[in-house]
Amino acid sequence: MAGNKIIIAIDGYSSCGKSTIAKQLAARLGYNYIDSGAMYRAITLYFLRNGVNYNNTDEVLAALADINLSFVFNETSQSSDIHLNDEDVSLPIRDMLVSEKVSPVAAIREVRSFAVAQQKRMGRKKGIVMDGRDIGTVVFPDAELKIFMVADPAVRVMRRFKEMYATNPHITIDEVRHNLELRDYIDSTREESPLHRAADAILLDNSSMTRDEQLDKVIGWVKERALSKAVS
Ligand code: CDP
Repeated sequence: MAGNKIIIAIDGYSSCGKSTIAKQLAARLGYNYIDSGAMYRAITLYFLRNGVNYNNTDEVLAALADINLSFVFNETSQSSDIHLNDEDVSLPIRDMLVSEKVSPVAAIREVRSFAVAQQKRMGRKKGIVMDGRDIGTVVFPDAELKIFMVADPAVRVMRRFKEMYATNPHITIDEVRHNLELRDYIDSTREESPLHRAADAILLDNSSMTRDEQLDKVIGWVKERALSKAVS
């Protein structure tokens, strides 16, 4: 499959396990994995740290001009860390303070143009798995494989609660549930590139699948797509 590299776009609601399958695929296929949500989170972190009023377009544009985002491969975790102006911000971007503000920030047109332009550049050579909310609809509308992930809301809340509890034992299940519900609502009702399933995206419900099961299923789809690319 090496000569037939494709673009894999994974979209879906918060905490559906998009990044888990995306990382599995990237490792198996030798592709780059890009967590587009980490970019919106890093921009939000910058806005919070610098007191940027995100309702003011001039302030937003001035702030974006000072933001440099990059992904740096980490040998230990075998995945990429996001750097904000040369600082590794992989941990602070997962903080609840960022989670609370990221959806309003990601709804801003100028913020989206800034992030999407970089994301499109990252896909030029193909061989990439990117997850987010608008990857199959806006960033890579021609992606060879598009997946729209769904999972039972209660399963999603517990998955995210366990993840966050590991670094913040004060977090409550209610806080996590409220944050996921609010983000899903803002992400799917915003004017700019709202979250929705692309007409040609395959639905993947992983509520009761093991990691191995979901990987096997998706690898089957990748093989089909890479093969049909080779013969077309
Ligand atoms: O918490 P989770 O991993 O589900 O979300 P994330 O992928 O880290 O994304 C955080 C937030 O960034 C989302 O709730 C969206 O508001 C925004 N986002 C977006 O608007 N477009 C994307 N392509 C990716 C994320």
